Amino acid sequence: MAIINFEDQTTLYNFVVKQGNGVKGMIDSGLSSVPQPFVQPISERIPTQNALTCEASQPIDLSNLNGPHHKEVAKQIVEAAETLGFFQVVNHGVSVELLELLKTSAHEFFAQAPEEKAIYLKEVSPSKLVKYGTSFVPDKEKAIEWKDYVSMMYTSDHEALQHWPQPCREVALKFMKSSMEMVKNVVNILMENVGVKLEEERMNGLMGTKMVNMNYYPTCPSPELTIGVGRHSDMGMLTVLLQDGIGGLYVKLDNGEWAEIPPVHGALVINIGDTLQILSNGKYKSAEHRVRTTNIGSRVSVPIFTAPNPSEKIGPLPEVVKRDGVARYKELLFQDYMNNFFGQPHDGKKSLDFARAE
Ligand code: OGA
Ligand code: NI
Repeated sequence: MAIINFEDQTTLYNFVVKQGNGVKGMIDSGLSSVPQPFVQPISERIPTQNALTCEASQPIDLSNLNGPHHKEVAKQIVEAAETLGFFQVVNHGVSVELLELLKTSAHEFFAQAPEEKAIYLKEVSPSKLVKYGTSFVPDKEKAIEWKDYVSMMYTSDHEALQHWPQPCREVALKFMKSSMEMVKNVVNILMENVGVKLEEERMNGLMGTKMVNMNYYPTCPSPELTIGVGRHSDMGMLTVLLQDGIGGLYVKLDNGEWAEIPPVHGALVINIGDTLQILSNGKYKSAEHRVRTTNIGSRVSVPIFTAPNPSEKIGPLPEVVKRDGVARYKELLFQDYMNNFFGQPHDGKKSLDFARAE
């Protein structure tokens, strides 16, 4: 491989971002320190000493939803959605074997030669459903996130199997399909709790955008200087996330402290997105979260995002506004919310300001 001058920031940016070698390609070329464009301002760095672990992280057993304990389980879900905005679940309908295969195929995708991955860079991708890249909006960020990803939009089984990248298409599709019933159950529980019964058509509109991502956080020589993902909330309804055993996902608590969502074998992490916070008029919390990097190994995670169709109108549900006596968010087209969300770097829950009622 040609020697790359990582001291030169333009060369570095082109190599990592534009040519699609990714953070992984940079590390694989033998780099042993963190280049300047990845060094975070001190305010964004993540201390690892004295890190808290989320106490409320005992996974919720969803098998009890179909039985005499339904009410208790529903209550656990509602409470988590109203407070932390994050919880873990087991017996979620996705087999543990599939979860293992997902992690393996994520590693397989990123282990490919840079040229194999770079065909999916946004500017050249053969399919508008598939996008590979590094960081969130690297051209606008003060410091680049230490993360490569591939993102797969779902339209139909047929298109997924045709267009999604070969090493992960089958497992990613299975993951999406086998978790969807659980996602709908959770959304229904949250809706019922605020006295709302969604018509099937509206439910489909609110959950119409489905995307599976595979995130790759390469081993980092100086994890204290970088972040995997900066502070953000997710924009959609619910996110279901598979993480591996390395850990490093942090959620912000009410008191401003950060606590880790510890890896639990066989469990899935669920978090509330901005859309559910808006629909519920603020009752459900779209949690601010972030990911730290590590030098113990490369971490993979596989989130499934569900969000409204771009043409869907979102705003606080009338039943909830009536009870609250005030609408805390305005009604808007989801497309507009999305454009704003992807138009700027991660900045905590600032994304929600776009929807706040004047
Ligand atoms: C995300 C995200 C967390 C993780 O992709 O939005 O928050 O653990 N990922 O990778
Ligand atoms: Ni997220």
